[in-house]
Amino acid sequence: MTKVTILGASGGVGQPLSLLLKLSPYITELSLYDLRNVEGVSKDLSHINTNSKCTGHGEIDIEKALKGANLVIIPAGVPRRPGMSRDDLFKINAKIVKSLVSYTGKFAPGARILIISNPVNSMVPIAVEQLKLMGKFQPGNVVGVTMLDLVRAETFVVDFLGEDSTLDKTKMDKDITVIGGHSGNTIVPVFLNKKLGETLKMKKCYDEFIHRVQFGGDEVVKAKDGAGSATLSMALAGYKFAEEILRSLHKAKSTMTTIPAFVYLPGISNGKEVQEKVGNKNLEYIALPVNLVYGSVASIDTTVLDNLTSEETKLLNIAVKELIGNIDKGKKFIIGAS
Ligand code: NAI
Repeated sequence: MTKVTILGASGGVGQPLSLLLKLSPYITELSLYDLRNVEGVSKDLSHINTNSKCTGHGEIDIEKALKGANLVIIPAGVPRRPGMSRDDLFKINAKIVKSLVSYTGKFAPGARILIISNPVNSMVPIAVEQLKLMGKFQPGNVVGVTMLDLVRAETFVVDFLGEDSTLDKTKMDKDITVIGGHSGNTIVPVFLNKKLGETLKMKKCYDEFIHRVQFGGDEVVKAKDGAGSATLSMALAGYKFAEEILRSLHKAKSTMTTIPAFVYLPGISNGKEVQEKVGNKNLEYIALPVNLVYGSVASIDTTVLDNLTSEETKLLNIAVKELIGNIDKGKKFIIGAS
């Protein structure tokens, strides 16, 4: 029995994410929670002839929504409008994430928690500190979903190089990863296949590529013209990441992945090694490729840090400076409030 709960399931991200997860062979109950329209969304999905049961829960029903959940995914919160940075969402989303994580700690204490709500760089520290306060924090169980940056990087690199190569957007996971955090300058694309990066440089489009990955979200916000931010591509990214966690939950052995996620370093076996390699012993959170055991992050694949180019190192140093501020803001929201 595997129960997955989505908090914020009726939203722009929540609905297509729920649809994709309704197809997952790993899920027996898909539990949807939102403050609005959740009956309609869950009834609609419950007519799909896959093996999972879909249940819907409104505001007063959060205990039922969460009880027994193995995995809780949180896309609840407001999205960006034109002219807004992810940090502008902090005030509203911090309260939402704090409250939903508290309920999760209370009603589904062992669940793996995936944070999609922005700004991820601050929301994950909020979640971790809140669970610590409650005595419910389990290392490796709380991660921020940065997968959309990787999906974008894989797409854009083929956009730039596709014409004169045989690159396939769906098979890029060994060629590129994205580390750092999930907003603007904290997003650091890294080429695992150095040849690709070199080709981009030769074609004089490396800088443009980096900028597109870092600010790809703005393209969507602008095109939607006030109707929100990325929802469909985010749903796909969230689904891919959740499937990786679910696959790992169903396996006895550890799963090595090339998938990055934003994680709390002191909770991870080689967290100190990561801090040393990044060159900042105070850095508590970063997105890097994770190794999973039973759906929890057990360790980080640090090889990516050993092979950075000078450009990538520069980008990472800029990212780390900004990350420290984002992380601090999230921590203070909880610690300052206790
Ligand atoms: P939306 O406004 O369409 O949906 C948000 C949903 O959350 C709404 O249905 C709302 O009723 C619900 N909600 C609000 N407060 C709640 C609460 N306390 N309990 C339960 N549900 C609650 O927004 P959208 O487009 O779905 O975006 C959601 C979040 O995901 C935003 O913060 C956005 O910035 C973030 N996002 C993150 C990405 C990432 O890569 N991590 C990419 C795209 C979006």
